[in-house]
Amino acid sequence: MDVLADIQRRVLGDEIADLRCGGFLEPGDPHSIAQALSVSRGGLLLDAGCGNARLGVETANRIGVRRYVGFDRDEKIVTVAREVARAFPEASVFAASFESADFDLKADAALALDSIYLADEPSIALRNLGSLLRGGATLYFTVYVGEGVQEGGVRGRTESGWLAALTTAGFEVVDCNDATDQWRHWARQLHSARLEAWDQVVGQLGPVAGLQRLRTSRRMLGRDGRPAFLDIVRRAKIVATKSRRPNDR
Ligand SMILES: C[S@@+](CC[C@H](N)C(=O)[O-])C[C@H]1O[C@@H](n2cnc3c(N)ncnc32)[C@H](O)[C@@H]1O
Repeated sequence: MDVLADIQRRVLGDEIADLRCGGFLEPGDPHSIAQALSVSRGGLLLDAGCGNARLGVETANRIGVRRYVGFDRDEKIVTVAREVARAFPEASVFAASFESADFDLKADAALALDSIYLADEPSIALRNLGSLLRGGATLYFTVYVGEGVQEGGVRGRTESGWLAALTTAGFEVVDCNDATDQWRHWARQLHSARLEAWDQVVGQLGPVAGLQRLRTSRRMLGRDGRPAFLDIVRRAKIVATKSRRPNDR
């Protein structure tokens, strides 16, 4: 039995645990993501920073697109994603970054769960992503923000900074939902349960990987002498559409 997967299953339920997602999902998210991205049949879903591609392929199935395209800058995870995406009839996964992605495609919908906030330059990442979407296409993504916080991809960024970068990149903001309370609620349970299972985690993952995961949980909960990451960082779910205006980038 995988102790971390088991904890995730107990806290977040089967649907979330089965997806083994690299990003954070709370109960109900797969449904709401698919709702936000629902496109007409025959479309193309782009999964940016796709990780293992499980959420992307699940979303592609739920919204009924014909084609799934994922990309991630980590070549190791791309190998896993290609294997996962084989279950989808028309799928490709590329090794590429937000900064360099320049495929010859126009997607009808795009998903970037807990990935684009890791890009070095949000404006460049969003502009590149925008060039891969047709006018009117919907983008769903999540970010972590926090003024003064210089870690974990947060880099002092704010919701308003992300919204301004979206506008500059030729998007129209549809929704910016403050998801902090839910994230804190579920993540506190998850990380507390991991710390309670300390011996099992180290026993199963070994001292290096096990302690690394537990250090993350201590940092999240502020058990390492610093302010809890879960107290000083906020999370937002953002939905935007690519502008149809021809002069927008
Ligand atoms: C927290 S994981 C989320 C993965 C996936 N979206 C999911 O939810 O399972 C973040 C992913 O973003 C990728 N990533 C980080 N920076 C990136 C960049 N600049 N360009 C492309 N991918 C990036 C990482 O390699 C990693 O797979």
